[in-house]
Amino acid sequence: MIFDARNIKAIYAGELAQKYDFSMPPFFSRWKRKAIDDSTLKSGDRVLVFCCGSGLDFPHILSKIGNAGKIVGVDFSVQMLRNAQQKIDTQGWVNIELIEADITTFKDTTEKKYDVGICTLGMSIIPDFKSAYNNLISEIKPQGEIIIGDMQLASGWLARLNPLTIFLAEKFGGTHKGHQNSLELCSIMKQDLSAIRKKEFFFKSYYYCIGKTQ
Ligand SMILES: C[S@@+](CC[C@H](N)C(=O)[O-])C[C@H]1O[C@@H](n2cnc3c(N)ncnc32)[C@H](O)[C@@H]1O
Repeated sequence: MIFDARNIKAIYAGELAQKYDFSMPPFFSRWKRKAIDDSTLKSGDRVLVFCCGSGLDFPHILSKIGNAGKIVGVDFSVQMLRNAQQKIDTQGWVNIELIEADITTFKDTTEKKYDVGICTLGMSIIPDFKSAYNNLISEIKPQGEIIIGDMQLASGWLARLNPLTIFLAEKFGGTHKGHQNSLELCSIMKQDLSAIRKKEFFFKSYYYCIGKTQ
């Protein structure tokens, strides 16, 4: 498969967007929940969510930040954002704003105004994940938090399962290179952030990594 941002956008413009909430991603919900529970998210926090997709992470985040907080979700798929907006309307959530943008070039303001930055199941499918990650960090206040949850390549004997993991992830834009990028991203986070914690799940094919901004 060619690892290209245009392909990724096309994938999320098609049938996948309609079926997304009934396919593989909700399977990761329990580990996303663990990441949110392990985070410092609290009532009133402002949270920037990159690759928010259909908003599957919103309920977890809202359970911590409450009505006093705010979520700004960014995604470049109009179709996925439409699904997110439907959820927002159905649930009556009033403190979520959606922005259609490419996170590799996204800039909100020059002011760091978010307490926490989150991206789940996003970075590993983005060829220029380093720009996306840097843009996320640049929006977060000092002593704020970055939460990344994603798929990754397993090591040791578990590496035998990698072809299966990648096969399952392919229709969502997952590739061997992308899964490998997750390992690199965690190394970068270890250099940039403090109080780092990484946890791995399901034969190490999914991880979350949380750290504090300087
Ligand atoms: C696998 S989905 C994850 C959605 C959500 N975070 C979740 O866990 O259900 C990946 C999302 O990333 C978005 N995406 C991929 N590359 C992007 C980019 N460069 N800028 C903005 N959104 C992007 C896609 O449109 C899609 O909605």
